[in-house]
Amino acid sequence: MPVVTFAVEGRDNCVVLGDDSYVYARTEHGSFVLATKCPHRGGPLNLASFEEGGRGNRLVCPWHERATSVTKAIRAGIPAVRHGDRVTAVLPEPGQGSYELQHRPLSPALRADV
Ligand code: FES
Repeated sequence: MPVVTFAVEGRDNCVVLGDDSYVYARTEHGSFVLATKCPHRGGPLNLASFEEGGRGNRLVCPWHERATSVTKAIRAGIPAVRHGDRVTAVLPEPGQGSYELQHRPLSPALRADV
């Protein structure tokens, strides 16, 4: 499992590991490392909108509008710690841990001031 330090936002805010990529999401209900690929058909969850309601606080994929619970994502989350503008995470990938840092835009829902 690779341990990777990357930026909270801006340049190098995304870790690309094989076919998967991860960003640091900051919502009003908590922050967590988010796998950017939607489990439905791979839509960009880094561009998800935020929905509050009776079914909980959810991130909504921009492609087919499936929702993911923010609470669930935080609880089942990837171990990570933030120090200022950097995050260090233990990513759930097997193998050698070869990765690349890139930029991914984040939707306003994932850039809460927390
Ligand atoms: S790809 Fe995300 S809902 Fe379909």
